[in-house]
Amino acid sequence: MKRIVVINGPNLNMLGVREPGIYGTLSLKDIEDKIRRQAEELGISIAFYQSNHEGDIIDRIHVAMGDADGIMLNAGALTHYSYAVRDAINAVKVPTVEVHLSNIHAREAFRHHSVIAAETIGQIAGFGEVSYELGLLALVRHLDKQT
Ligand code: DQA
Repeated sequence: MKRIVVINGPNLNMLGVREPGIYGTLSLKDIEDKIRRQAEELGISIAFYQSNHEGDIIDRIHVAMGDADGIMLNAGALTHYSYAVRDAINAVKVPTVEVHLSNIHAREAFRHHSVIAAETIGQIAGFGEVSYELGLLALVRHLDKQT
């Protein structure tokens, strides 16, 4: 059974409260519940992690080397400046999909660039919680092709 870990970075614990016009009204738990149901349908095992701390995100990515076949990552604002998160993805070589609720390319200029994108299989942005659904499907299909 494929094992996927969903990692959410800074401020994503505030979903539902934080800028609902941009990020929607669902809480992170609501999104995780949806993804858990989707994972059951896909027949994969799923784990969730959220932290507001860069080092903790990096540590969780390192742990994924031993406990996950794929990572779905919304690194929040770390996306735009954390070379350390980028290096962690490169170090563990666990296939990673980057997801964002909002369309980062249509927002402030500093959000247009993702420093982690080049280390990922691909990026899905702009579909609200559906970005996670699409990301999970894309990751599972990618892993299926590899085995
Ligand atoms: C985000 C986009 C980032 O620019 C922002 O800092 C976030 C959320 C998204 O999911 O749209 O925290 O990653």
